[in-house]
Amino acid sequence: MCGIIGIASNKPVSINIINSLKKLEYRGYDSAGLATLNNNKIDEKKCTGRVEELEKILFKSPSEGNLGIGHVRWATHGVPNEINAHPHSTEIVSVVHNGIIENSDELKKKLEIKGLRFKSQTDTEVITLLITEALKKYDPLESVFSTLKQLKGSFALGIIFKDNKNIIIGARRGSPLAVGYAQDEKYLGSDSYALKSMTNKISYLDDGDLCVLTKDNVEFYDEKKKKINKKIYNLSDDKNTSEKGDYKNFMSKEIFEQPITAKNCINEYIDSLKKDINIYNFPIQPNNINKIVLVGCGTAYHSCLVAKYWFEELTNIDVDIDIASEFRYRKLKFNSQNLYIFVSQSGETADTAAALDLCKKNKVKTCSIINSVESTIARNSDWVLPIHAGPEIGVASTKAFLGQMIVLYILCLKLAKSRQDIEDKDYQLFLERLKLIPDAIKKTLKIESSIQSMAKEFIDAKGSMFLGRGYSFPIALEGALKLKELSYLHAEGYPAGEMKHGPLALIEEGLPVIVIAPKDKYYEKTLSNMQEVIARGGKILFISDYKKELINENVRFGVTVPFLDNLLSPILLTIPIQLLAYHVALLKGCDIDKPRNLAKSVTVE
Ligand code: F6R
Repeated sequence: MCGIIGIASNKPVSINIINSLKKLEYRGYDSAGLATLNNNKIDEKKCTGRVEELEKILFKSPSEGNLGIGHVRWATHGVPNEINAHPHSTEIVSVVHNGIIENSDELKKKLEIKGLRFKSQTDTEVITLLITEALKKYDPLESVFSTLKQLKGSFALGIIFKDNKNIIIGARRGSPLAVGYAQDEKYLGSDSYALKSMTNKISYLDDGDLCVLTKDNVEFYDEKKKKINKKIYNLSDDKNTSEKGDYKNFMSKEIFEQPITAKNCINEYIDSLKKDINIYNFPIQPNNINKIVLVGCGTAYHSCLVAKYWFEELTNIDVDIDIASEFRYRKLKFNSQNLYIFVSQSGETADTAAALDLCKKNKVKTCSIINSVESTIARNSDWVLPIHAGPEIGVASTKAFLGQMIVLYILCLKLAKSRQDIEDKDYQLFLERLKLIPDAIKKTLKIESSIQSMAKEFIDAKGSMFLGRGYSFPIALEGALKLKELSYLHAEGYPAGEMKHGPLALIEEGLPVIVIAPKDKYYEKTLSNMQEVIARGGKILFISDYKKELINENVRFGVTVPFLDNLLSPILLTIPIQLLAYHVALLKGCDIDKPRNLAKSVTVE
């Protein structure tokens, strides 16, 4: 959460800081700010709301200076207002911060006893004051090192100093931080995406690292203050996928490019000539895998849940699944023959990264299924299976979810085949059907106008429920998550068979209930559960891959997606629930790409 940018240059930096902050807004958009060094002074400007507001302030009163830092905030400590916005500065130092300082209350008390006063409610101001105090005794580098020693938590920092006009110091502990290189200009960024328009040459700080940037040079230090070298990566150019083009917003673009997402992903992994899947170098021999443990957060967790059903259906491997924020604190029995799989779009989610670290500490084999291959999680895993979806900008995950499911399905098929849990002829059949997915998604997207009509049913709704069984249960959870995060309408996802154990009490006249019922072994059972809802006045919106005339006075709407194979139904049934959330949010006038209170990359616990 939160986005950091820093630029050291031989020309004014404020315009590039603003442009980078616009790119970083997906990480946080409660408030924004920047500080430049100008005329021997720290010139700080901040505002609540979006970077556009900050840009207006700069338009009236430009920020000069060839060195500066900027920030977009996703509030943790203190409400999103101008005072709590970053940077947090004293006369001699200015700090931008991503993450949480866990011992900030304790440090604050100590500083207050010394007579220091705080302006904001943030944990960040503690860092600013600690460095300011340290600068009375030490140079900037030593001041930052001595401050870092006192901080507990997970964070990334960007710091500038009034009396050292040429340097920006960056420090990473837990939260990601990257450095970019160009002629006469060096950059600090909380991710490489923000730096991409300025450079494709990037290094990444590891946990505990610190860097000192000038316009000409970057020096890296480890936590023991030893100078270290860093590899410089060349980033790929994703221009097409990082621009909105003719679409109204990134989310609609990302929904509608899913046929391409699926195609790219399938082409990367399926060798049509050899009729096989290009996945080799398993960290554990497939026959020796004792258990698969799938871990993720939010939407990524839902893709893990879909995969659990696939692994159980197609392999004889035992499967566990966990939400990363729970996994990381559980008392687990690690087993070196278990394969631990971490699923994440950003590859920077703090809980997922910490869960992965826990596995590393316990010396077990890890695999990550990742969109951003330059991310922390990808770099820290033994084995990486990228989803090749291209940058996903809309805060609500859509095409990355689809890509995660496809890679998990491909991995499952490969494991099932390698272990001979499935026969070769079935393997070939499953591969052939998978190749039909991009076209089937294209056809599915044509239901958009029916979904638009369905969305109107939600305008006056007080809440809603999504029901499914088997593979459709995770899609019900995902449907509810998408609807609540985009339209702020309460939504619950449930296994349809669970309704009678409590949630049925929520059903009242006119409550929209989305029933996801492909023609699989659960179909008839789901219909019975649906009848229980109808009997209590629920308004049924029916989504299936089976064309049966179900629409009557009890079933308000029905949409049908193409049928390929029961195993692939969750992939196609995802499209209607994404479109539904999108259109309800659009009708309600919500900010589609930046829903309130959220951020794209959740780098705090
Ligand atoms: C919901 C959504 C989130 C993310 C979750 C994990 O639309 O996007 O629930 O799925 O924050 O993020 P990643 O996949 O980056 O680890």
